[in-house]
Amino acid sequence: MSRIVYVNGAYVPEEEATVSIFDRGFLFADAVYEVCAILDGKICEFEGHVERLIRSLGELDMGMPVSKEELLEIHRELIKRNNVEQGAIYLQITRGTADRDFVYKKDMKQTLVMFTQAKGLTEEKAGIRVVSAPDIRWGRRDIKTVQLLASSMCKTMAKAAGKDDAWLVQDGFVTEGSSSNAYIVTKDGKIVTRNLSTSILHGITRKAILRLAAELDMEIEERPFTIAEAQDAAEAFFTAATAFVYPVIEIDGVELNGGKPGPVAKRLNEVYIEESRKSYI
Ligand code: PDD
Repeated sequence: MSRIVYVNGAYVPEEEATVSIFDRGFLFADAVYEVCAILDGKICEFEGHVERLIRSLGELDMGMPVSKEELLEIHRELIKRNNVEQGAIYLQITRGTADRDFVYKKDMKQTLVMFTQAKGLTEEKAGIRVVSAPDIRWGRRDIKTVQLLASSMCKTMAKAAGKDDAWLVQDGFVTEGSSSNAYIVTKDGKIVTRNLSTSILHGITRKAILRLAAELDMEIEERPFTIAEAQDAAEAFFTAATAFVYPVIEIDGVELNGGKPGPVAKRLNEVYIEESRKSYI
């Protein structure tokens, strides 16, 4: 059965959804996106994702093509029409369509597309094996743009090497995962994750997890860490809307926690799911 997707005001079967070849999202990656988790048919962290969306758009001289309320309504309608219980809902806003020109105009008619992806989020997590790769992305990773080729290449390289994902390294320190925020748990129990800057995406799941960890009296250090420090850690994990808290069991061939998911990642994932069930809409 084909999905129903959303394109500029219309709900259509995915085969019928089209966007112009002159869309600047297609020609220049002149577009931003967001991905919210769907749990029990409800949307997790909607407010946080919209807040980041508005910020990303603002950094690129764009506004919202629809109101926050309309956006929520489209999310809900799409989840309902596709009957999704668990998974992700993707939205992309491009600057719109114009003849190819490096100079963009302000206040163009933007393109808004959305679709759902059904995927289990609450099952037992086996843990992933990561390899490090140079972070060759652009310098404004805090803006959630669709220019994901570097991330896509790194993840494909990791898969070709028989692993699951890449952790990206710049100037000797891990920035983040190819599509997630990266964490280690030191042997004395501290959670370490890179501090916010233009070098990483300001993860919505990251924000929630750091808040929950603090509530659980876990110690947190927001600072860069190296691959060597990560390999020597008690455990490691990553967060993303599409995975919640996911254990990392191997880094560049070195197993962590005996190659098994660690207790901190497991606990934080459970608490995150519990908390999401209280706040999703
Ligand atoms: N990616 N860092 C990067 C580079 C990401 O692409 C993502 C999310 C994150 C985690 O952010 P959040 O917790 O807000 O999902 C960090 C999404 C899920 C994706 O591209 O599919």
